[in-house]
Amino acid sequence: MKPTTWPYGEFYQRNRAQHPPALTPAYKTSVLRSPQKSLISLQNSLSEITGPVFSHDELGPLDNDLIMNYAKEGLPVGERIIVHGYVWDENARPVRNALVEVWQANAGGRYRHKKDTYIAPIDPNFGGCGRTITDDTGAYAFRTIKPGAYPFRNYVNSWRPAHIHFSLFGSGFAQRLITQMYFEGDPLIPHDQIIATIPDPAAIQRLVAPLDLNAALPLDSLAYRFDIVLRGRRQTWFENKPQGS
Ligand SMILES: [Fe+2]
Repeated sequence: MKPTTWPYGEFYQRNRAQHPPALTPAYKTSVLRSPQKSLISLQNSLSEITGPVFSHDELGPLDNDLIMNYAKEGLPVGERIIVHGYVWDENARPVRNALVEVWQANAGGRYRHKKDTYIAPIDPNFGGCGRTITDDTGAYAFRTIKPGAYPFRNYVNSWRPAHIHFSLFGSGFAQRLITQMYFEGDPLIPHDQIIATIPDPAAIQRLVAPLDLNAALPLDSLAYRFDIVLRGRRQTWFENKPQGS
């Protein structure tokens, strides 16, 4: 019988119908990165489960403003957008004080990273990283430049659709979840071999943020809404999730 007090279990079993197999040869990188041997289950240590705890006063005033947090001599180039949404658990309860970190390419599709050698230029006024913490309703928001698509070495003309990488921390490092958000209407989404590793079309759709004109700032920024559900049938698909759905 299921215990009634929380926590009643350390792991949720992974839903294999939603999560891609580790080895998905159409995404060539997965061939070398997928495990060659059966996995070992590890017990979480107490420090992994209990720490750290994040609070709002640990963030700087521009941490959730990617338009301004790296600007030096001017504003970054590109389409100004707001991304906002809620973080919910499987029972649609808000997940409070979750640290939400984001990183992305600039408007030309180039990351500020020494290993990114794509021809698109670095934007001197755009860093591409930010973070925020959910409030008591589970809501989060940040402002940024819409990232550009970029090519990668998979097949000829393999391009990543425009996307923003997300990392979420709950109340412990062992709970880190990582995923990517895509933009409604992007024609590259059906061609992306990384997205195609997700077997459930509905799970793919939940990674696509719809345009949200109600949250747009007139004459300033468009907005996209990206809600994140941690578990259950409507969960967001996380690329690293060890504890199922
Ligand atoms: Fe990326």
